[in-house]
Amino acid sequence: MEIITVELLDRQYTITIGDGAWDQALACAEMYDKVFLITDENVAGLYGSQFSYPQYVMTPGEEGKTMETALAILDEMVRHSLTRNSLVLALGGGVVGDVAGFCGSVYMRGIDYVQIPTTLLAQVDSSIGGKTGVNTVYGKNLIGTFHQPQGVYIDPAVLNTLPKKEVVNGLGEVIKYGIIGDPDFFEYLKNHLHELLELKPQVVFDVLCQCCSIKAQIVAEDEKDQGERKILNFGHTIGHALEAVTEYKGYTHGEAVLIGMLYEARLANALGLLPGYGYEEIREVLETFDLNWSIQHLPEEAIFHVMMQDKKNCDGQISFILPIQPGQVQEMLLTPEQMRRWWRRIVS
Ligand code: GLY
Repeated sequence: MEIITVELLDRQYTITIGDGAWDQALACAEMYDKVFLITDENVAGLYGSQFSYPQYVMTPGEEGKTMETALAILDEMVRHSLTRNSLVLALGGGVVGDVAGFCGSVYMRGIDYVQIPTTLLAQVDSSIGGKTGVNTVYGKNLIGTFHQPQGVYIDPAVLNTLPKKEVVNGLGEVIKYGIIGDPDFFEYLKNHLHELLELKPQVVFDVLCQCCSIKAQIVAEDEKDQGERKILNFGHTIGHALEAVTEYKGYTHGEAVLIGMLYEARLANALGLLPGYGYEEIREVLETFDLNWSIQHLPEEAIFHVMMQDKKNCDGQISFILPIQPGQVQEMLLTPEQMRRWWRRIVS
């Protein structure tokens, strides 16, 4: 069992990784007057019986990540008479975690919640760091709060029930950690990617520990996403645009991030920030995945339009987090005109 501490400005919490992590979540729940479980139909079918609490079971998928769902959950929380000393348990992937965290953050002006992530993406990224939210018709996560969980409890064994596409979805974020923050981890991933895809238990455990500790460090440095935390967005400026122009049906988030990382590495190379051998190293790792890497066919103007709305942008310039070598990134701002010029070069 590995315990990683997330240091916040006013408190700390732990990420518990290993067999038996869920027992610790249940022990933590004992400290509250009432517990309310939020999950989705897929996860409830697999693991719901391990939790004998009142529960709200969401329809799986991004479509359920709405204010309407949050209001329905909050009504149920009122109906079950949850108090300020009650706990929300978020059992599921990123959507469940974000919605449950959001409900926890606004119920009676904020009650405690813990994350029990069941997808690789949620285990290495979304369950850590307190970003909560729902989507609106205008975009993803436009309504939300920062509300840090009381703890994150990760049982790696649950990944064995994930479809392969979901594993690849999480691996986009895993590889991102190697490129943004740790050259040794990038090297490790290069050598163990196939074992990771096969979910070899020791490799999965090591990778979870490494990713969670990188994320914990970044969150500790920049809890409210004002600076350093931006580096988590490597691959996301282009990745988000690909997701949006294909109406979130063309790619999973992780696939879009994998493709986004390739083209952002290409951009870094074209701009002279990333040497050719560094680019080749990144490209080789990314191209282990069997994806449709070509994005030439996608509507350019629609892609630019989405990139111009990116939350990280500054003074009308588009923000890119670009690698300068595997393990290190820097922010680069490009005007829309500069972006248009470079785009032709990187997609061809
Ligand atoms: N998933 C990005 C962040 O936590 O900041």
